[in-house]
Amino acid sequence: MKILIINGPNLNLLGQREPGIYGSSSFDAYLPELRKRFADIDIEYYQSNVEGELINKMQEVGFSYDGIVLNAGAYTHTSIALQDCIRSLKAPVIEVHISNVHQREEFRHKSMISCACKGVILGFGLDSYRLAIEALKG
Ligand code: DQA
Repeated sequence: MKILIINGPNLNLLGQREPGIYGSSSFDAYLPELRKRFADIDIEYYQSNVEGELINKMQEVGFSYDGIVLNAGAYTHTSIALQDCIRSLKAPVIEVHISNVHQREEFRHKSMISCACKGVILGFGLDSYRLAIEALKG
């Protein structure tokens, strides 16, 4: 099984960025834990701050990989282009968020991508990514 984890804008700053909300671990520090836990799964990782690059990457893998775990960051709340992209793919996409966006500002309550995703996991810190992989494993 082959999956891709995609992190969108500002998630390259995990560990330094608003640690009270997103925790103090970088994604690079967390990724080996995930890979160890799911030793039978090929887990690739991609991060970009650029909307079109996220779309290019999803199009690239979305017809051959078994699933995508997507934290689209703030594009979650704005991007019809990401929604259209997710709808176009063969691979299931799980939307994840580190924080519980429903406990935060009103503008974070709306997701433009949830309707196109297989499911949504949010609010469990970095463990949200593990839960998303469990969901893809089935
Ligand atoms: C986030 C929540 C978004 O609202 C925010 O813009 C992010 C991170 C999360 O993982 O909690 O960048 O997707």
